[in-house]
Amino acid sequence: MTAASARFDAIADNYAKSEVHETSPSLSMLRKLGEGRDDLDVCDVACGAGHSAFALLGHAKAMYGVDPSPNMLKNFVALGQARNAPVHPVEAFAEAIPLPDQSMDLVVCRLAAHHFTDIGRALAEFRRIVRKGGSVVIIDLHGDDDADCDGLNHQLEVLHDPTHIRSYTVSRWRELLEAAGLQIVELQRDLTERPGGVPLQRWCEIASSGDAAHAAMVALLVNTPAPMLESIGIGRRDGGYTVPVRTCFIHAQAS
Ligand SMILES: C[S@@+](CC[C@H](N)C(=O)[O-])C[C@H]1O[C@@H](n2cnc3c(N)ncnc32)[C@H](O)[C@@H]1O
Repeated sequence: MTAASARFDAIADNYAKSEVHETSPSLSMLRKLGEGRDDLDVCDVACGAGHSAFALLGHAKAMYGVDPSPNMLKNFVALGQARNAPVHPVEAFAEAIPLPDQSMDLVVCRLAAHHFTDIGRALAEFRRIVRKGGSVVIIDLHGDDDADCDGLNHQLEVLHDPTHIRSYTVSRWRELLEAAGLQIVELQRDLTERPGGVPLQRWCEIASSGDAAHAAMVALLVNTPAPMLESIGIGRRDGGYTVPVRTCFIHAQAS
């Protein structure tokens, strides 16, 4: 296991129950891609509890959930069985997926790519397993075009989860997908996984960040000028901070 997958394995149940992960505008956008189909082969990479796969319920004949964490996969199977979903757990890393070439109609990876140790290799795997004309959907935290805002965002993310590697900017995502041989057909940025924001305390609770990390994030935010907070989507509610869980939704295709 990597540091990230070991950390997630220990707190898998948090993600099965997380309101932020269970439903979001990006998952509604994903569901739309399944419209008119009931026979898709879907692969949810870094599936966690499988919320992205379940967004396609009724549109998929098979849902493969790839994750290196056995406890995440246990939850994926349990939640899948409760929904009568055609779930197939696959214990593996995104960088080496043990599924055949061109075997999937839709590959989705949500809120996870920022943890991958080799993003180029992971994208090459997505490209390999998707069928010609099939879809690769990336939903992930994205970086800021302004270097100072990006730096602050990165500091907050690493405090929130020390296994965070990088929230790529949208222009970096374009380069990465192009290098993997994937053509972008839709890209939306500055989305939020939780309209109105998530209280910082709750966001830290989901990731088991700990009290010290939460306090360090608050100390950082207290000393940040208001326009910069606004620029990265940090708000205030009920005397505390809120975080936007700001994501991009990228739909790409293999030619
Ligand atoms: C924040 S959870 C997101 C889970 C799910 N995609 C969702 O949207 O609810 C991140 C997931 O990435 C997985 N993960 C971390 N590193 C990985 C890697 N290199 N390959 C595949 N999965 C990985 C973790 O085990 C965890 O399940």
